[in-house]
Amino acid sequence: MKNILVTGGAGFIGSHVVRLFVNKYSNYNIINLDLLTYAGNLENIKDIESSNNYKFIKGDICDADFIEQLFKIEQITDVIHLAAESHVDRSISDPLSFVKTNVFGTVTLLNAAVKFWKQDLSNHIFYHVSTDEVYGSLREDGFFLETTPYDPQSPYSASKASSDHFVRAWANTYKLQVKISNCSNNYGPNQFPEKLLPLMINNIKNNKPLPVYGKGENIRDWLYVVDHARAIDDIFHKGTIGETYNVGGFNEWKNIDIVHLLCNLMDKKLGKSEGESAKLITYVTDRAGHDHRYAIDASKIKKELGWKPSLQFEEGMEKTVEWYLENPNWLEHVTSGSYKDYYKKTYLVN
Ligand code: NAD
Ligand code: TYD
Repeated sequence: MKNILVTGGAGFIGSHVVRLFVNKYSNYNIINLDLLTYAGNLENIKDIESSNNYKFIKGDICDADFIEQLFKIEQITDVIHLAAESHVDRSISDPLSFVKTNVFGTVTLLNAAVKFWKQDLSNHIFYHVSTDEVYGSLREDGFFLETTPYDPQSPYSASKASSDHFVRAWANTYKLQVKISNCSNNYGPNQFPEKLLPLMINNIKNNKPLPVYGKGENIRDWLYVVDHARAIDDIFHKGTIGETYNVGGFNEWKNIDIVHLLCNLMDKKLGKSEGESAKLITYVTDRAGHDHRYAIDASKIKKELGWKPSLQFEEGMEKTVEWYLENPNWLEHVTSGSYKDYYKKTYLVN
């Protein structure tokens, strides 16, 4: 019997991880700890909220006393840590909140884990979910390997790189059994519309300009979120203690190309004439320090754990667009209130 603490389980990726574990492992108790910041939404996991092996707890990973109590009361055996501030643009305008949650919050969890598990560290896993952005920015060729030196370029990636270092330091110093994965850009249902694809879907729906940063030539490597959750499952269960796994789809797209693909798909789904949505594309001032290209070499996880993406990209995009169109209330709820202020401030529009 395991009592697994999943942090950030009301967010985008966390909600897919929680769903997979709750449905697949009836012998585990899944304790979902989330502060419900602007990015956390209990609607994301409504379908599993009454499952017997699931519990939601609202709380802050930075609150050491609360976290220690939680380990004790819930008899936590393992951690899958996803809670974070996750958006690069927000990290540029408010870097300290990234240091607090991503660095201080991670160390708070590491401390509690060592304190609570110290009698028998060998029976417990602390799994830290990280990003490929810690490796920095690539030019036109080459891939990020697990051995690529860290070279974070944004406040977000610097805070995630720092948290990765702390996790490894706790493995070395206190013998905590850790696993880390660094994944490429995720897309899919439940992603908050501050990130590229859901922001564009929402704007197309509302006939608003589609803000493409710079010349739209930056490249990202896209993976369907459920495939990331499957990778986390494989790494948690089969990955080697102390190892790092890169997760990605071998699926690189220039921003402008993926936006055109999305526009064409939206035209079809909304019954618009071909080329209608693409007319909304608007080039805007580039993001400060914008990383040019991310691309993951995911051979290690394929070779060692047999993981590979289950969906073709076109199929994943269809599913994603359909989900957003079939869930207008979800979009409505998350874009009311503070989203409007965020949008105005970031895109300098009224
Ligand atoms: P998200 O922003 O959608 O969700 C983050 C969740 O963490 C939210 O539910 C939020 O309420 C919660 N949270 C924030 N601060 C908290 C705190 N102090 N205490 C407790 N909960 C708190 O993020 P996401 O896109 O789902 O990313 C999840 C993790 O995966 C992050 O660690 C991120 O760095 C990593 N990651 C994301 C991507 C991606 O493409 N989105 C890719 C690779 C790695
Ligand atoms: P994003 O979804 O924020 O992920 P990340 O920056 O972590 O990779 O952005 C993906 C790419 O899309 C990135 O190159 C920035 C670009 N982008 C835009 O061009 N316009 C936008 O409005 C947003 C949010 C992103």
